Amino acid sequence: MRTKLVAGNWKMHGSLATNLGLLHAVRDGVKGPAEVAVCVPYPYLAQARAVLDGSGVAWGAQDVSEHAQGAWTGEVSAAMLADFGCRYALVGHSERRSFFGDTDAVVAAKFAAALKAGLTPVLCVGESLAEREAGVTGEVVTRQIDAVLANSGVAAFANAVVAYEPVWAIGTGRTASPAQAQEVHALIRARFARDSADVAAGLRILYGGSVKANNAAELFGQIDIDGGLIGGASLVAADFLAICSAA
Ligand code: G3P
Repeated sequence: MRTKLVAGNWKMHGSLATNLGLLHAVRDGVKGPAEVAVCVPYPYLAQARAVLDGSGVAWGAQDVSEHAQGAWTGEVSAAMLADFGCRYALVGHSERRSFFGDTDAVVAAKFAAALKAGLTPVLCVGESLAEREAGVTGEVVTRQIDAVLANSGVAAFANAVVAYEPVWAIGTGRTASPAQAQEVHALIRARFARDSADVAAGLRILYGGSVKANNAAELFGQIDIDGGLIGGASLVAADFLAICSAA
């Protein structure tokens, strides 16, 4: 049985002042069986650790360098994230792929770097609206997964999470229907099952893309949806806690 996971992706939001109330509310408000995490901007990792350490709520980063160390100005290594007690590192979020040029090869290298430092990578995959309308969602998601499988192998996913985030649902209020999401989640799990039935059975596949308090339960009730990666709603404690309770 896979334990549900609900992770908040704060994106580039927050301040030391506003984070404090949100972090305390999440720490004190989480109830129920689902595992909960918050992925905060790099500058707030120390604050997240200070509030959440020992609480059962995990924290993580929204990206990670594929490089271990060196002359990579502005980059943050997986070892540095581990220094701040991170459990998770998002890799391949569509905003990194679209706006910052993370290719499938770069995402695969980031995935490997995160694992090497003892982090749990959350591999984000998903199609654009044009790709969905062209009927190539499966090919796109499979291509993104295969790039990481080719580099790290299927056994690596015993210590990883996958997040399916249809790009057309991110930040739009246009959530994938439970059936649409389940269809792709089942395809993702079947892809892993081709290489390892055990890894596929244990792999947590999260859904992300306009998850809200009023749609979370139906989404999380789908057999291959193991929780959510939450953007906007993770910035409001009551909304995020309601989503966590739905898992
Ligand atoms: O990583 C989660 C994010 O992309 C989803 O954003 O605002 O649609 O929940 P949102």
